[in-house]
Amino acid sequence: MSTEPPAGAAPAVHLTAITKRFPGVVANSDVNISVRAGTVHALVGENGAGKSTLMKILYGMQQPDEGTIAVNGKPVSFGSPADAIRAGIGMVHQHFMLADNLTVLENVVLGSEPRKGVGLDFAAAHARIKEISDSYGLGVDPDRLVDDLGVGERQRVEILKVLYRGARTLILDEPTAVLVPQEVDELFGNLRDLKAEGLTILFISHKLDEVLSVADDITVMRRGTTVASVSPEDVTARKLAELMVGSALPVPELRESTVTDEAVLSVEGLTLVGADGRTVLNDISFTIHAGEVLGIAGVEGNGQAELVETLMGIRSPTSGTITLSGKDITNESTRHRREAGVGYIPEDRHRQGVLLEATLWENRILGHQTRKPNVRGPLLDRRGAKADTERIVVEYDVRTPGIDVNAAALSGGNQQKLIVGREMSGAPILLIASHPTRGVDVGAQAAIWEHIRRARADHLAVLLISADLDELIGMSDTLSVILRGRLVADHDPATVTPEQLGSAMTGAGRED
Ligand SMILES: Nc1ncnc2c1ncn2[C@@H]1O[C@H](COP(=O)(O)OP(=O)(O)O)[C@@H](O)[C@H]1O
Ligand SMILES: [Mg+2]
Repeated sequence: MSTEPPAGAAPAVHLTAITKRFPGVVANSDVNISVRAGTVHALVGENGAGKSTLMKILYGMQQPDEGTIAVNGKPVSFGSPADAIRAGIGMVHQHFMLADNLTVLENVVLGSEPRKGVGLDFAAAHARIKEISDSYGLGVDPDRLVDDLGVGERQRVEILKVLYRGARTLILDEPTAVLVPQEVDELFGNLRDLKAEGLTILFISHKLDEVLSVADDITVMRRGTTVASVSPEDVTARKLAELMVGSALPVPELRESTVTDEAVLSVEGLTLVGADGRTVLNDISFTIHAGEVLGIAGVEGNGQAELVETLMGIRSPTSGTITLSGKDITNESTRHRREAGVGYIPEDRHRQGVLLEATLWENRILGHQTRKPNVRGPLLDRRGAKADTERIVVEYDVRTPGIDVNAAALSGGNQQKLIVGREMSGAPILLIASHPTRGVDVGAQAAIWEHIRRARADHLAVLLISADLDELIGMSDTLSVILRGRLVADHDPATVTPEQLGSAMTGAGRED
């Protein structure tokens, strides 16, 4: 007599009591998940909750210290991804792993070259790729150079690569983090098609609206362990977020006004004409006072990135002036602006905020090479920089095994907390914060808000750019909308609704 369930009813993946320790961190602790075959199973949790580690274990990239894995009801043990692939498990990583200078075909067959006698059978591979692409509507052309593909297309190549290797269970680690909304819709269409063919998908995200729209089952992880398994019909995004953090959600708010009449940043008639002759910034004027947060709302691509870069001295305006505490800094260098007390949280943390392959303390120095505590006289002061990095790690709750690890070892939210801590150090008078909480979990978001609030009470002037309208409304003393390079409307954050702001952002009802 067998106690085994019938084969069709066995979960595609069953993880039992998985524990994985890294030096100083328990990344996974007694994790239990059952993934039904033929479903989209979402794994949600704050940055650092242990999602990627768990999926790397399932994909054989890492080995658990404890616990067991069963695939389709059979116990397995993976020493490497090759073992996982043989068991029908494939993974698309958070950062793509394609070779740019090769074609789609070459990328797909790389590592599993099609044999024909002693030669390679590229014709067969070509046909197989076309077939997979067509049957799942992936729209992948085997002959294109990967370098010529957009992000959404690259992702579909990665998915195809996994399918080509015969995967029946696909792991997608934060696939939507790199996509624009329309591409997200396309991806979800692909996932539904894959599911319709009986494939199983493990989908990691911390964007809860997405999870609710695409998942059949949801597992919530918190601090390395699984804390809930829910069905999307039974939860709201807010409830899921609360499960993720383990407490009621923080709300963005400023509480009492701290706005003074001391002008910190004054911008007058700022205009930027791009190389193509297009007016990117058009006659922008505003003033931010000590203790004031000026929020700027706008659909991405309406000039906010260029405004920030012009304020930071990364671009030179065509005309107009920028005044910091009464001094004209229009033609000053970025370094000078930083030394004059400007903190800068850049929009793209990987391109401008942190060096992934440098340690936390080296990252503490980045952009602050000329200032205490990183230098003493003309010399780099490693001890000073290290001690101050320790302080930031504590004050900003940066979860890390230490300050000597590379920033790459930290989750995105923890990298962001490090950046915020660095930019808030040395008591800046102005903070230019571009999407300060984008991509970070709700716990880190609340912490970043609290640091901004405290610094504001301490006279910091803040320029806040954000796509999160609740954040903008809650965290701004004054609120403007940027549209096609112009500040077009002011709103009272105390009364404006996200809907009103949203329609102002699209220029609804405007003639120009
Ligand atoms: N290779 C590693 N070495 C040391 N610590 C790691 C490593 N990978 C992940 N961690 C740590 O394990 C924890 C969980 O990380 P991760 O699984 O990436 O979380 P998530 O994907 O949910 O953001 C974090 O504290 C992270 O810093
Ligand atoms: Mg991750």
